[in-house]
Amino acid sequence: MPQSPSEKALIPFVSVENMMRLVHHVGIETMLVELTDVIEEDFRRWESFDKTPRIASHSREGVIELMPTSDGVLYGFKYVNGHPSNKVEGLQTVTAFGLLAKVSTGYPVLLTEMTLLTALRTAATSAMAARHLAPKGAKVMAMIGNGAQAEFQALAMKVVLGIEEVRLYDIDRRATEKTVRNLEGSGLRVTACTSAQSAIEGAAIITTCTADKQFATILTDNMVGAGVHINAIGGDCPGKTELHRDILLRADTFVEYPPQTRIEGEIQQMAPDYPVTELWRVVRGEAEGRRDAGQITLFDSVGFATEDFSALRYVREKLKGTDFYQEIDIIADPDDPRDLFGMLQRAR
Ligand SMILES: NC(=O)c1ccc[n+]([C@@H]2O[C@H](COP(=O)([O-])OP(=O)(O)OC[C@H]3O[C@@H](n4cnc5c(N)ncnc54)[C@H](O)[C@@H]3O)[C@@H](O)[C@H]2O)c1
Repeated sequence: MPQSPSEKALIPFVSVENMMRLVHHVGIETMLVELTDVIEEDFRRWESFDKTPRIASHSREGVIELMPTSDGVLYGFKYVNGHPSNKVEGLQTVTAFGLLAKVSTGYPVLLTEMTLLTALRTAATSAMAARHLAPKGAKVMAMIGNGAQAEFQALAMKVVLGIEEVRLYDIDRRATEKTVRNLEGSGLRVTACTSAQSAIEGAAIITTCTADKQFATILTDNMVGAGVHINAIGGDCPGKTELHRDILLRADTFVEYPPQTRIEGEIQQMAPDYPVTELWRVVRGEAEGRRDAGQITLFDSVGFATEDFSALRYVREKLKGTDFYQEIDIIADPDDPRDLFGMLQRAR
């Protein structure tokens, strides 16, 4: 009787350490560009996917979410949390892991950390949206909220959009200092600002990426001039928003999956029939993105399951021919499929 698991039991597992190695192996800028394209590819075949608003379990401190989808060939899900007060205890606000499986057998083909991958895919999704919505030739981005996601956002906007300067602001000066340090040598001009108002001066793109469990007003209407693109990342839960609603009255709003965004996004502040454009339709050329230079465009980002699916299938491809994974046996492999009890005896 075999004592060790067979091939059937094993699936590749990407630890945080191996994900870090993979990112450096590919190169973070290359990875952001490639992820942007893979995510866009999947937005282009939107109707191939099973879609549902993510399944959220809320508590006073935060939220734990499951994000499933399938394209009929592969099935994927991500487990992710959002706990803004975690950082007080030295813990991440957002952590995640995810899995990809074959639809034909239900057998997993990849299990991976997704904390880093979420930061990468969120930045790539922002860049993809900005590619269609930001004013032509945008060179300056304001980055309000300088936490875990910040550098990824800045780098993606640099490599995909050609942003040359980021203007940083965070209520916690240490977060801004950390981001300045991390972006040294990135080729971006980095300016630390002392208020949100000064950060957005001259910015064609305004990214808000703050974490607060309650309705916050990071941007008020008077702060937002004509022609800018707002990339609103941090409002992604019921009761958790970043923009004053008056901004939404002046902006054209673009979303991932309306049934989820109406629950979680900035537009939860608006009537249920507040008009939005689905980003996939813009990507496919079926709906207008940026119309003119004076228009305010808003990407009301909450993060959708297909983006994680795209990231998972990308990582699966990139692992080929590398050793940036371990084989782990998470599938039972009895010699006779019906003899699960018999398999148990292997460990005696
Ligand atoms: N849309 C998406 O797909 C997506 C993906 C990942 C994370 N998120 C969300 O993005 C947000 C940021 O995530 P993170 O991992 O960087 O969190 P983080 O906790 O590491 O960083 C958040 C930063 O926001 C700052 N901040 C809080 N209130 C502020 C204010 N009023 N003005 C300026 N700065 C303020 C904090 O000091 C902190 O540095 C979270 O709300 C998270 O849920 C969204």
